Amino acid sequence: MQFSSLAFLACLFASANAHFRLLYPEPRGAFVAADEPKFCGGHTQVTTNRTVFPLSGGIFSIRTGHPEWTAGVMISTVANPNNFDNFTVDGQQQLVRGYAHEHDAGSFCMPLNISAANIPGVGDGSNVTIQVVFEGGDGNLYQCADLTLSANLTSVSDFTCENATDSSGGHGSHGTPSQTPAPTGAALGLSHEMSAYTAVFLGLVGVATALL
Ligand SMILES: *[C@@H]1O[C@H](CO)[C@@H](O)[C@H](O)[C@H]1NC(C)=O
Ligand SMILES: *[C@@H]1O[C@H](CO)[C@@H](O)[C@H](O)[C@H]1NC(C)=O
Ligand SMILES: *[C@@H]1O[C@H](CO)[C@@H](O)[C@H](O)[C@H]1NC(C)=O
Ligand SMILES: *[C@@H]1O[C@H](CO)[C@@H](O)[C@H](O)[C@H]1NC(C)=O
Ligand SMILES: *[C@@H]1O[C@H](CO)[C@@H](O)[C@H](O)[C@H]1NC(C)=O
Ligand SMILES: *[C@@H]1O[C@H](CO)[C@@H](O)[C@H](O)[C@H]1NC(C)=O
Repeated sequence: MQFSSLAFLACLFASANAHFRLLYPEPRGAFVAADEPKFCGGHTQVTTNRTVFPLSGGIFSIRTGHPEWTAGVMISTVANPNNFDNFTVDGQQQLVRGYAHEHDAGSFCMPLNISAANIPGVGDGSNVTIQVVFEGGDGNLYQCADLTLSANLTSVSDFTCENATDSSGGHGSHGTPSQTPAPTGAALGLSHEMSAYTAVFLGLVGVATALL
């Protein structure tokens, strides 16, 4: 209990530093930095104007000022997913894109082939919600987007998908990203430990929420 509370406080203070924006698909609501460590970045209600999104050939794009980050994408088939449980199956996060580490800060656009994840019940016309999980060294941050999947749509035409790295290292640092000291969680560089690492943070957020 004591450990959890301390870890939560550490998260609260630290998470003021690392942020990310979900550029595409459009998130559920306005970006509120202080709420980003919460479920769906603080937006618990499903939206009714869902983005029509390719079942196969989709993309997602984020921007961050932080180098050395990890992100993955969870999916929920629940009509109104309003808690982390609704993004899990048998206690495991239902991932539509596994956690991957990125060295640079900047804008990134990544393929998101929802069809390839073979999620039961997900097909043409399905309403789903994706939740992007971002970890920049000091705790998980979240953004959600409500989608209607379309098999007819084979690519995204209303968003320019491109990467633009920010070699300044972000946050006024003058060094190149390679000179940035590694975060205390040294496991960050090891992709096979990502899920467990992130799951620990996810668990802490759950505990912290229960404490409030
Ligand atoms: C999907 O969501 C839209 C908008 O909320 C709703 O009008 C539609 O009935 C839903 N479709 C299904 C199959 O649930
Ligand atoms: C949904 O509607 C709101 C309010 O009009 C708007 O701000 C938002 O951009 C819309 N979202 C999508 C995905 O179209
Ligand atoms: C998406 O995945 C499906 C199933 O693995 C595959 O058939 C399809 O070609 C993929 N689409 C793209 C655009 O890569
Ligand atoms: C969503 O999560 C809540 C809380 O765990 C649970 O009670 C509910 O059954 C879930 N909804 C679905 C459709 O699985
Ligand atoms: C895709 O096109 C088919 C045939 O025109 C149509 O029946 C189906 O409803 C479309 N799917 C969506 C999600 O719009
Ligand atoms: C952007 O970078 C990511 C990660 O390196 C890569 O997976 C993706 O394909 C790139 N996107 C574009 C549009 O080049």
